[in-house]
Amino acid sequence: MAAVTLAEALAEAARLLAEAGVPSPRVDAELLAAHLLGESAGRVRALALTGAASPEGLAELVAERARRVPLQHITGKAYFRHLELDVGPGVFIPRPETETVAQHAIDAARQTPGAKVVDLGTGSGAIAGSIASEVPGAEVYAVELSELAHAWAARNLEPLGVVLVRGDLRTALEEHDGTFDVVVSNPPYIPPDAVPVDPEVAEHDPELALYGGGADGMELPRATAASAARLLKSGGYFIMEHAEVQAPAVSKLLVDAGCWNDVGTVSDLTGRERATAAVKR
Ligand SMILES: C[S@@+](CC[C@H](N)C(=O)[O-])C[C@H]1O[C@@H](n2cnc3c(N)ncnc32)[C@H](O)[C@@H]1O
Repeated sequence: MAAVTLAEALAEAARLLAEAGVPSPRVDAELLAAHLLGESAGRVRALALTGAASPEGLAELVAERARRVPLQHITGKAYFRHLELDVGPGVFIPRPETETVAQHAIDAARQTPGAKVVDLGTGSGAIAGSIASEVPGAEVYAVELSELAHAWAARNLEPLGVVLVRGDLRTALEEHDGTFDVVVSNPPYIPPDAVPVDPEVAEHDPELALYGGGADGMELPRATAASAARLLKSGGYFIMEHAEVQAPAVSKLLVDAGCWNDVGTVSDLTGRERATAAVKR
């Protein structure tokens, strides 16, 4: 029998999504219904309790999610700190652990009135947009190489007044060398032999956003650190996300460069060493 009430439709959707290996089937079912109804997930739960009808089109969206299309590509939205970002094919979906990296950059930017900040490899604009919206008066720049990601970033960052540059983080903004107070980045860093297992990542996050280059995935992180060194003024703050296993290599890279003080690993909310920060000498 076809499911007719919202409660029945959600139960069936959760069953199908669980069968497809989606990690949070019930929540995703509720979020898809919320997207169709233009309501919050909490309101969807309340509606399900009161015998409301299932929205038209839910089965189609559930089938798409069961094919492991990312939830954010189906709804067109990703949530990062206080921001609702427009996302879709061609742009990296921002991750919760990056919110901690953004927090450290925000804390550093708040220490300098009118701080000049740049986000290297901005993707959807998650980090740059958060800084622009949470640090009033900051002058925020963002750099992105991919044409498609740049287009998504433009949609998200223009309303926030961020200066978005299409270019290679290795050479971008050379005319601003030595002028930034904060450089923040979540560059590509996955090694070539560590292909992600989740289809949402392996098949839908752009390769340019994932693989760092070189046998250890460290080519882009190394280039990011070199760019941070040229872009920052003396006393400027740098923070970069990386894989947990790369923490010792990133620390060593910064210490060996000889132009950084206070090199230190930064843990995410689950205690994993997922970023490294330093102060330009
Ligand atoms: C891991 S994603 C992070 C995106 C975003 N900062 C976030 O945290 O959600 C890395 C981003 O760097 C961009 N990128 C890769 N190589 C680049 C390069 N050489 N110059 C500038 N951006 C680059 C990718 O297109 C991608 O958007």
